[in-house]
Amino acid sequence: EKGGFPSFMEKEIFDQPAAVADTLLGRSDADGRLTLDELRIAPEELAAISKIVVLACGTSAYAGSVAKYAIESWCRIPVEVELSHEFRYREPIVDDKTLIVSISQSGETMDTLMAVRYAKEQGAKTMSICNTNGSTIPRESDAVLYTHAGPEIAVASTKAFLAQITATYLLGLYLAQLRGNLFQGQIKDILADLGKIPSKIQDILDRADEIKDLARNMSEANSVLFLGRHVGYPVAMEGALKLKEIAYIHAEGFAAGELKHGPIALIDDGQPVFVVVPSPRGRDSLHSKVVSNIQEVRARGAKTLVIAEDGDSAVKDFSEWVFYVPETPTLLMPLLATVPLQIFACELASAKGFDVDQPRNLAKSVTVE
Ligand code: F6R
Repeated sequence: EKGGFPSFMEKEIFDQPAAVADTLLGRSDADGRLTLDELRIAPEELAAISKIVVLACGTSAYAGSVAKYAIESWCRIPVEVELSHEFRYREPIVDDKTLIVSISQSGETMDTLMAVRYAKEQGAKTMSICNTNGSTIPRESDAVLYTHAGPEIAVASTKAFLAQITATYLLGLYLAQLRGNLFQGQIKDILADLGKIPSKIQDILDRADEIKDLARNMSEANSVLFLGRHVGYPVAMEGALKLKEIAYIHAEGFAAGELKHGPIALIDDGQPVFVVVPSPRGRDSLHSKVVSNIQEVRARGAKTLVIAEDGDSAVKDFSEWVFYVPETPTLLMPLLATVPLQIFACELASAKGFDVDQPRNLAKSVTVE
C-alpha cells in the first residue's frame, strides 16, 4: 500500500500532484467561474462578511498563513490567522459578519473543534476546510470545503498541506468573484496558473535526488534555520516543523526581515540556513532584500541552502546549494517551494534511521485539548 515507497510519508509527498489536481477538480467551469455550490452558506451571506478568522493548529495553521496573503490580496477582506488553542482562551472579537475558516486535515483536532464551537456561540459563520469526509469539525460547521488529498497516513502532514493551501485559494477566488474584487478574466488566469501546479510539482519530484543527496550529507546537523519572506515565511515555518517532527533536529523558521532583530545572533560557522527566495520577477524589492539576507548570514559563516525560482541567477554566488523550482505567480509559490523541504526532512530522518511515519511522542489526530 506504500506503492513501492519506503514510507507512507514519501509516498504522500509523491502523491502531491494528484492531491492538488483533485482538490481543483470540478470546482470551476470552462469560463473560469468558481462553482462552490457545495459550501452550504448562501452566496449573499458570504459576500457580506467583514473579516475572516482562520483557526487551525500546526501545519494546517501554516496553510492558513499562506491563505492570508492570497485572500487579502484578491478580496481585500482582513484575514486573521490564529492557533485554535490561543483563540479559544482569550476574548476574541467575532460577530455575525465574521467568517471563521477552520483548517484541519483530520477534522477531529480537539483544539480546533472547541474554537469553532466557541466562535459559533458568538454568532460567527463557520466554514471548515477538511480532508476527512463526515468528521466532526465539518459536521459542526455551517459550510465545508473538502480537500481531496486522499487519506493521509503518515503522522507528518504533507499532501494535506498542499491541498489545504489549494482549497484556500479556491475560497479566496470564490469570494473575489462574489464580491467583484477581481475581474472574471483575472480569476480565470489564476485558475489556469493553479492548473499548471501539479506538473510543476512533478518536475520537482523528478529531481528529488538533488535534495536527498543534500539531506544524507547533513544527517549530523544539530540545528537548521529556515528563512522566508511574504508567502515564503510560512513555507520556512513548515520546513522547520517537518524537521523537528520527524528528524528530531532543532529547527526554527523566521521571517527573513526579523533576522537583524535577533536571530542573526544564532549564526556561526557552519550553521545551515535554508532560504526561500521570492521570485525576481516580483514587482517589489523583496527578492533583493532576501538575497541580501543570504549574503548577511553567509558573511557570518552560515552554510546557505537556497530554494529559488528557475532562472534566478542572483543567488548562485552566495549559496552552498541551490534548488530551483519552476516559475509561478508569487502567491502560488508555496505549493512548489514547500516540496523540497518536505523531501529534505523525510530523507534526513530516514538517513538517521527513524520511523518517519510514526515519529516519537506524536499522534496523527490530537483529540485531546
Ligand atoms: C504536522 C502535523 C500537525 C497537524 C496538526 C493539526 O505535520 O501533522 O502539526 O497539522 O496537529 O492537525 P489537523 O490538520 O488534523 O487539525
